[in-house]
Amino acid sequence: MKNLPLLFLGIFFTLAFSWVGLILSSHLNLGNLQPSTSELEDGKLIEGEPVYPIKLGGIAQTGKDVYIDQGCMYCHSQQIRAQGFGSDYERGWGNRQTVARDYIFQDRVLLGTMRTGPDLANVGSRLPSREWHMQHLYQPRITSPGSIMPPYTYLFDVQKVEGRPSEDAIMIPEGSPYAPPAGYEVVPTDRAEALVAYLLSLKVDYELPEMGFTEL
Ligand code: HEC
Repeated sequence: MKNLPLLFLGIFFTLAFSWVGLILSSHLNLGNLQPSTSELEDGKLIEGEPVYPIKLGGIAQTGKDVYIDQGCMYCHSQQIRAQGFGSDYERGWGNRQTVARDYIFQDRVLLGTMRTGPDLANVGSRLPSREWHMQHLYQPRITSPGSIMPPYTYLFDVQKVEGRPSEDAIMIPEGSPYAPPAGYEVVPTDRAEALVAYLLSLKVDYELPEMGFTEL
């Protein structure tokens, strides 16, 4: 093995090159991204204008853990692709593609790789109703007949109505095969509440200097 040092050098440079190319250069390019106003004035933020993206707060942050636990990411992406790369715009999944800055506050970025279901990057703008999400999670076929999304029934308690019905109980259309037995109601657990708060917080409804809305 007289070429051992050469072999090691070869391995070292291969790894070093990929580290510089993949990690260091991305970090230099994107590592310092800050929230921004939708436009810049002389390269600076406009005073008084809101800056985006905003941080996830309250129970929506807990809801993100539920989203991860339940494996929603195996069927849903959270990235709107550029126009011309597929038909995300045409499907109404967003008014603009997502860019690196949209993700700067995310501790775990859930881009996803599979799209068995629709992209959810902007689902909070597209479907802003808590009630809709609750019904859909409890049994997707209530809102989306024929859906192949699994029901998350175990995120709800089916309980007997004692006295007054609970204020949080979700409406299941009368006569639906998924309605609870008479005298029972379906009440979301804390995990379902957090998950829906998270879904409603997913919005790409702001512009950034590098990416404005596209009207189709
Ligand atoms: C096995 C794949 C699969 C999994 C896992 C899955 N979904 Fe879905 N999802 C779908 C499909 C297919 C649709 C489209 C039909 C429908 O609306 O039910 C969908 C639709 C949706 C929609 C409506 C989107 C729209 O634009 O109409 C939301 C919101 C959603 N899913 C959230 C979730 C959440 C939250 C989880 C995890 C708790 C999850 N999904 C897990 C397949 C999946």
